[in-house]
Amino acid sequence: MTTVIDGKQVAASIIETVKMAAASLEKQSGVKAGLAVVIVGDDPASHAYVNAKSKMAKQCGFKSVQHTLSAETTQQELAALVSSLNADPSIHGILVQLPLPKHLNSDPIIQSILPEKDVDGLHVVNAGKLATGDLETGLVSCTPAGAMVFVRRMHGEDLSGLSAVVIGRSNLFGKPMAQLLLNANATVTIAHSRTKDLPAVCRNADILVAAVGRPQMVKADWVKPGATVIDVGINRIAAPERGEGKTRLVGDVAFEEASNVAAVITPVPGGVGPMTIAMLMANTVIAGHRAAGQTPPKF
Ligand code: GUN
Repeated sequence: MTTVIDGKQVAASIIETVKMAAASLEKQSGVKAGLAVVIVGDDPASHAYVNAKSKMAKQCGFKSVQHTLSAETTQQELAALVSSLNADPSIHGILVQLPLPKHLNSDPIIQSILPEKDVDGLHVVNAGKLATGDLETGLVSCTPAGAMVFVRRMHGEDLSGLSAVVIGRSNLFGKPMAQLLLNANATVTIAHSRTKDLPAVCRNADILVAAVGRPQMVKADWVKPGATVIDVGINRIAAPERGEGKTRLVGDVAFEEASNVAAVITPVPGGVGPMTIAMLMANTVIAGHRAAGQTPPKF
């Protein structure tokens, strides 16, 4: 029997822990966890994501602040906003939604966020802490942190003896995911578009994580029988079977066929997706605890 991980259910359990931790932080130290989300421009998909983040922050009992800036915002104006949020003691987490409009340079903005408020885990200090195995004082990027929750729930804390393959080498996902798996003692391979015989490399994986952005690329014969397959891709493809002009979301894994071979697999949608917002809330409540000198919860 193949286990299909219900990401919504796991995300809901993380959110419950966040709510309890936020309430206890406020009770113990009078500190309300605060999240500021910044969005620049009019991209409808980005607005939908950001609204969901702000709304969830409220549901968690946080102070939730959203800064919606026009598409004409200058680099200096955005930098000044980040600087004021850095200085605001009621804000423990700052998220600048990406991508920014083309005339803005995102890297200096992201790197100007105080590392202890960088709930996206994108600051080089947080990337460096993860790379050196310091998971106690840093903040980990939300999507890999969410994927790792699934891995821990299936395999426990210690992945000694297991081989893990991550397809994709981005700073946002592939690299931090590989670091998390390595930190848990897995033997890790980072595969990418230049890897020779990718299917053979993947077939070696007890834990296969796909984050390439190519619809249904990972086929059944890429999967080791009994493997855990985590699909991080979200791709919109044409779905003529649903009617003319209709589309549907699929992952980087050919789910139907791969689920006949894997022991555990995540669906798209409803797998890793719901975990990203949940882990953003987790990072915010962790940052709030640290700022108040309290021991943060573990997720
Ligand atoms: N845009 C899409 N995903 C993300 C994310 O995880 N963080 C930020 N800041 N922007 C995004």
